[in-house]
Amino acid sequence: MKIAVLKDAGGDEARVAATPETVSGYVKTGHSVTVVKGAGAAADFSDNDYKEAGATLSASNTAAAKGADLVMSITGGDKKLVASLKKGAGITGLLNPTDNPDYAKACAKAGVTAYALEYIPRISRAQSMDVLSSQSNLSGYRAVIEAGSIYGRAFPMMMTAAGTVAPAKVFIMGAGVAGLQAIATARRLGAVTTATDVRPAAKEQVGSLGAKFIAVENEEFKEAETAGGYAKQMSAEYQQLQAELTASHLTKQDIVVTTALIPGRPAPRLIDKKMIDTMKAGSVIVDMAVERGGNVEGSKPGEIVTTKNGVKIVGLLNWPSRMAADSSNMFARNLKNFLPLVTAEDGSYAPDWDDEIIKGCALTRDGEVVHERLK
Ligand code: NAI
Repeated sequence: MKIAVLKDAGGDEARVAATPETVSGYVKTGHSVTVVKGAGAAADFSDNDYKEAGATLSASNTAAAKGADLVMSITGGDKKLVASLKKGAGITGLLNPTDNPDYAKACAKAGVTAYALEYIPRISRAQSMDVLSSQSNLSGYRAVIEAGSIYGRAFPMMMTAAGTVAPAKVFIMGAGVAGLQAIATARRLGAVTTATDVRPAAKEQVGSLGAKFIAVENEEFKEAETAGGYAKQMSAEYQQLQAELTASHLTKQDIVVTTALIPGRPAPRLIDKKMIDTMKAGSVIVDMAVERGGNVEGSKPGEIVTTKNGVKIVGLLNWPSRMAADSSNMFARNLKNFLPLVTAEDGSYAPDWDDEIIKGCALTRDGEVVHERLK
């Protein structure tokens, strides 16, 4: 099949959906690959690396995508690009379908199949294609590193001739994929680490990373995980108890990373201004949920806000893009593992519509928006 790799880089996006490593694999298995010039530059992959891997270079997204069977991208490109694609082609990316339903409509209109990689079902067989996990893992790591660079003190305890440096106290709220990597990173750096979540399964995972689990463990907590492994929206009573526990714990923390999300809902508010007012000057809060409304009162998308009492609230966006080489490598490998699901035995483009992974992530088919969540 003909594969096109778009240049997504620009704005706060530095990732690329195929790397010289995956391109080389595609070419070796008989596919032809066109990569837009400069597509990998922001992730440290040069045009020459792609050329050596067997790709043809193209001047623009539209030129590369012309006649392609499958277009690989991080964000899906724009509606104009979609309109220029060959009827029956496919396009993959993090397409943000709920916030951007017009994109799926544009794909349907163009007769293009849009594969929203964030909708790949979280079943064992799809783990190697799970871009949410691969990107969240790196995000959790990066959030702690970034917090450490903003924090004016050290992470580990240091006993020196000039006196002792106290270890940083780090609190991670939400122990999903990003949160668990944040805990592991904070621990590796020598911080005294605690974490919370509303899902009981998180307790053991947090403990296994050597961090202390802190949560309101009442009857509601025992039922807080959905069959899909996600958190439920908690009751007002639970939220009140959780807020009281958080308030007393926060006053002693130096770095807080919040990652709490509930699918299909705004992010739960976990930290309010009153709590922040009790924190020490120089403390850092990273709100990784800022794009979905934020876990922290006062966090601003794309900004670092300093409060009157000297607490820094970090609302930076697109964490994976801050480590674009590794995140592109992982994203590209996820996509490489996805490719067989849209490839016939003779190597041509042919999505397997009986496969639950395809059904789970395809937004459009034959000119219609078909995904349940968009209907
Ligand atoms: P997410 O990004 O949806 O949410 C992050 C975390 O916030 C979750 O752990 C959630 O329980 C927590 N949270 C929500 N509301 C909260 C609140 N009020 N207070 C504190 N914490 C709150 O989660 P993510 O990272 O996508 O993982 C969700 C689940 O999916 C996890 O159980 C994970 O182990 C599972 N998973 C399964 C995979 C598979 O292939 N089977 C792959 C990846 C994740």
